[in-house]
Amino acid sequence: MANQKVARSAKRPIVPILITFTAVTVVFYILSTPSSGVPELVKTSFSPLPKTPVKNKLDGDSLEKYLYWGSRIDCPGKHCDTCAGLGHQESSLRCALEEALYLQRTFVMPSRMCINPMHNKKGILDRSDNQTSEPTWAGSSCAMDSLYDLSLISKTVPVVLDNSKAWYRVVATSMNLGERGVANVKSLSRDELKREDRYSKLLLINRTASPLAWFAECKDRHNPGAILLPYSFLPSVAAKKLRNAAEKIRLLLGDYDAMHVRRGDILKTRKDRFGVARTLHPHLDRDTRPEFIMRRIEKWVPPGRTLFIASNERTPGFFTPLASRYRLAYSSNYSHILDPVIENNYQLFMVERLILMKAKTFIKTYKENASDLSLTDDPKKNTKNWQIPVYTMEGKR
Ligand SMILES: *[C@@H]1O[C@H](CO)[C@@H](O)[C@H](O)[C@H]1NC(C)=O
Ligand SMILES: *[C@@H]1O[C@H](CO)[C@@H](O)[C@H](O)[C@H]1NC(C)=O
Ligand SMILES: *[C@@H]1O[C@H](CO)[C@@H](O)[C@H](O)[C@H]1NC(C)=O
Ligand SMILES: *[C@@H]1O[C@H](CO)[C@@H](O)[C@H](O)[C@H]1NC(C)=O
Repeated sequence: MANQKVARSAKRPIVPILITFTAVTVVFYILSTPSSGVPELVKTSFSPLPKTPVKNKLDGDSLEKYLYWGSRIDCPGKHCDTCAGLGHQESSLRCALEEALYLQRTFVMPSRMCINPMHNKKGILDRSDNQTSEPTWAGSSCAMDSLYDLSLISKTVPVVLDNSKAWYRVVATSMNLGERGVANVKSLSRDELKREDRYSKLLLINRTASPLAWFAECKDRHNPGAILLPYSFLPSVAAKKLRNAAEKIRLLLGDYDAMHVRRGDILKTRKDRFGVARTLHPHLDRDTRPEFIMRRIEKWVPPGRTLFIASNERTPGFFTPLASRYRLAYSSNYSHILDPVIENNYQLFMVERLILMKAKTFIKTYKENASDLSLTDDPKKNTKNWQIPVYTMEGKR
């Protein structure tokens, strides 16, 4: 090719600094977002999506077109050393996948996902040993295909990994074609990218997503024209070995109910100017203790049922009081299945999530939807109103 010119972006914006703040805030939403909508997981929930005509041909000079958002999910500017939990990164990934679906392009998937060390503790509930320091999984990132089944994702949105030969070929070709092959764009709506010929015809759209978080690009979710992937999409396309592990555990559980008990980081308090401890979820610590859980779930879970508990509570035996009424099970009961498969906490959570969402009765920590059963009535989203924690029965039905 004669034209060896490397495409350049029209504008090269300076990344704003507000990111530090967001990166910190974002951490507290770890693992929360994806569980919303979990129970509605059904294959048919994808049916409103158009059957995508885009072929995912990985070799040969196909006419396929690509969408690239960057090499890392939510790598906010210079602060790539921190990252959000799985829940936030999944919101972001889903947002990017939706755009690819909308533009009928193959999505270029980052080959690795960053793991926040804060959310990578090897907490095993009910373990009998007495270690003071909690062991942590190794690794600050993991291969994307160790979390997700990319061929399953590709049935809905074609994807290629950004360390694949196919992608290297696309980059080389787009550079050869120059401005006729690639555009580096920023702050353009997906409608503009679809409508305008100068973008829609290109081999590659290299989009600089919001430097705060990719999901910020999907503010427009209520637009009726927007194509949505359900919350349950990414949970349900977990890597095959994770889905298999969940299936084996479910078979052993038999007929079971389940609850997700979020404690850990979300219980944190801070002192106000009078030195009084305040929290964003005033009843949460109380409502997630076994004696309160027992009272709350009584009407939903009959005695004698098998109750699978997924929690980030790390105190050994914390939920044992519930054993007087239920047959309790945790992922630690199935370490013979999980140990050979699980290498980090994100994978463990993905397995637990599959088990939770298929329970006969599933109780969440927060109510996210009118039909949800929840342990607390405190709202999930509260970022401002710091209140004094309540431990009494006051106001309880
Ligand atoms: C709430 O639950 C209903 C019924 O299960 C479901 O159709 C709907 O999509 C859910 N909404 C959200 C926001 O998860
Ligand atoms: C755990 O270790 C602590 C300190 O080493 C000790 O005080 C406590 O009794 C131990 N608990 C059990 C259950 O062994
Ligand atoms: C995408 O654009 C960014 C600038 O916005 C640039 O640094 C990067 O090299 C481009 N990547 C590709 C594959 O074109
Ligand atoms: C899970 O392990 C705990 C001990 O850690 C035990 O009390 C419980 O009965 C086990 N549950 C099942 C379903 O095997």
